[in-house]
Amino acid sequence: MDSIGSRITVKRLHPLFVAEVTGIDLTVPLSRGDFRVIWEAFNEYQILVFRDQHFDDDSQIAFSRHFGELETMIAHPGNDWNPGHISVMTNLGKDGNFLPPDHPAMAHRARNEDWHSDSSFKPVAALASLLAARIVPPVGGNTGFASARAAWADLPAERKAALEGMTALHRMTLRDADKDKGYKEEDKQRHVVTHPLVRANPVNGRKALYVGAHAQEIVGMPPEEGARLIEELTAYCTQPQYVYSHQWRDGDAVLWDNRCTLHRATPFDNRKYKRRLHRTTIAGKSPDSALATVPGA
Ligand SMILES: [Fe+2]
Repeated sequence: MDSIGSRITVKRLHPLFVAEVTGIDLTVPLSRGDFRVIWEAFNEYQILVFRDQHFDDDSQIAFSRHFGELETMIAHPGNDWNPGHISVMTNLGKDGNFLPPDHPAMAHRARNEDWHSDSSFKPVAALASLLAARIVPPVGGNTGFASARAAWADLPAERKAALEGMTALHRMTLRDADKDKGYKEEDKQRHVVTHPLVRANPVNGRKALYVGAHAQEIVGMPPEEGARLIEELTAYCTQPQYVYSHQWRDGDAVLWDNRCTLHRATPFDNRKYKRRLHRTTIAGKSPDSALATVPGA
């Protein structure tokens, strides 16, 4: 366990990545020094689990803005609570009652069960996402995280050499079109971009595979061949030794690095238990361009 300063504690939760951060209240303005501790831990551990935070949307947005500009959410049936910078993951309506199983927002949730990196289909892909618990079920509904950085590090040198320099095509739409209901056609058409298959963290130079459900082809390769390669790499990155499964507790907020990790939702009894988590997403622009230094605290 690292004790930093007199209050903030950073404790590793997995042999390869993920740390738990305690001893700080993120719902009030942070000092530059406290933010620096979090920023450095974020770049090192890739996933930070904050305990005992009780965000409302305003304080969640304010904390998230330390990392850079926030994304504006794309309209879809599961994102009508507080459109703008907040995306809500829930099985509840605004009245607090369960949504019917055939509600479009429930179908939309299935998209999140595929391993992915948030907003990899945008020209400026997301730096980070912060998911904060408002209501959590007693069992199930874990979020899985995989370190594509640790997975990359374990590849043989000749495989790394073969993959570096490749470019992947990412689409907002998934290969399983049934999961795309509710998005506007123009949004589906617009969100098709390319990114390098291997990305380096600008602070520490550590490389990671950049794959997941939105990566669907390799530029210059027949589509099916590229899709198979991406599926193979995504399966490789999400083997048990590279995965941490987060069981949510009241007051948890988890920050993940979308540049080097994949994540997915897992099921729970959504007719029995209530679950509501709010997400902010930090765009990549500011930190990617100025990462030699800490973003504005
Ligand atoms: Fe996600």
